Amino acid sequence: MSSSQSLSGGAPLRGSVRVPGDKSISHRSLLFNAVGRGRARVRGLLGSADVRSTASCLRALGVDIAPQADGSVIVTGCDWSLSEPEGVLDCGNSGTTMRLLTGLLSGQAMHVVLTGDGSLRRRPMARVTEPLRRMGARFDGRDGGNLAPLSLRGGALQGRSYRSPVASAQVKTALLLAGLQARGHQEIIEPHLSRDHSERMLAAMGARIERGAVSCRVEASPLECVDVDVPGDISSAAFLLVAATVTPGSELLLEGVGVNPTRDGIIDVLLRMGADITRERSREVSGEPVADLRVRAASLRGTHIGGAEIPRLIDEIPVLAVAAACAEGETLISGAAELRVKESDRIAATVSLVRAVGGDIEPRPDGMVLAGGGGLRGGVVDAVEDHRIAMAGAVALAAGAGSGRVDGARAVEVSYPGFFDVLRRLQSPGV
Ligand code: S3P
Repeated sequence: MSSSQSLSGGAPLRGSVRVPGDKSISHRSLLFNAVGRGRARVRGLLGSADVRSTASCLRALGVDIAPQADGSVIVTGCDWSLSEPEGVLDCGNSGTTMRLLTGLLSGQAMHVVLTGDGSLRRRPMARVTEPLRRMGARFDGRDGGNLAPLSLRGGALQGRSYRSPVASAQVKTALLLAGLQARGHQEIIEPHLSRDHSERMLAAMGARIERGAVSCRVEASPLECVDVDVPGDISSAAFLLVAATVTPGSELLLEGVGVNPTRDGIIDVLLRMGADITRERSREVSGEPVADLRVRAASLRGTHIGGAEIPRLIDEIPVLAVAAACAEGETLISGAAELRVKESDRIAATVSLVRAVGGDIEPRPDGMVLAGGGGLRGGVVDAVEDHRIAMAGAVALAAGAGSGRVDGARAVEVSYPGFFDVLRRLQSPGV
């Protein structure tokens, strides 16, 4: 498959779409049920490279994950007794897989080696290995255990209180998974609340878990396997929300999107900028709020995005920058230094992408400033092997006047397989 995708801009987007399953919830539905008691059926699991990485690591740890004829998957839990894998666990491009596995495996008496692709081997792991070491796990790796490949020797753990310097659901979840196997209580306090899918799912599985405004506390608990209906991923819907908003004449209905309040910052920000987005058929599915989102094209104005809002839209910042480039007036994004250590340096990658399509953007150490006001044109966007940069680039081209190309487009397989085909279908409904 060629990894360049061409797109022409300006055609209104119209139609209905069901975006793929939520990536965060998909990982958790496999990882948590894997150590539960009994069996669980997971429907709507995201079939992407990242989730396949989690499934293959769990299989190597002796977990049975069986795809069913109806498209669902049955996970058979091992009640906290995983088997030592024969080889190295390859987490591919997936930070969630690696960081959540460090917590899950810290309490298991075994030796494991975790690695990943070039991008994942550059991402910071001390944020999980340091607090897990304090609980009793033994890690080794490059840069003092900060960089993968990581070698982990798990065993008896002692619960502690940990104040995390970053609002990260991956760190929080790793510590919760270790805490569920530890003596005493494990507490984690965050600077701002990060996504709370773990707390919701673990509570539904019977974990002894207590939640504060930005903290969470667990003690050793068995988990009961729980069926999960995975909602659509708002982080994938985000690309279509922005594309329809900034392409005149567009109207899309995005069905069954997860709108957990720790994840829906993109909707708040787009509404503040003047977008026309409505929630329809609001409901709860597997303990998560879900709605259909109707979005119509609208003119946008610039805004300031920062503070506690950042963890609620961290993965959506590249595509929000595309929206800001199309808005009237300046947009400032601050407090988002975390973007530097995602699948790519997403501040640098977003600046390159917006400039490639004619936008006016300046990087900041912890964010970016966009002048707005200028329409976008065609161009060539380099995805820098980052799925969200590939899709944000596609949105910029679909919205712009002219045509262009995304190089390295196959990166979308990580979270939204088939994204370019979906976008083209919506540009030409009924064809
Ligand atoms: C995720 C948490 C976020 C997010 C990532 C998925 C998760 O990362 O960027 O795409 O599933 O827990 P951090 O927790 O490191 O902020």
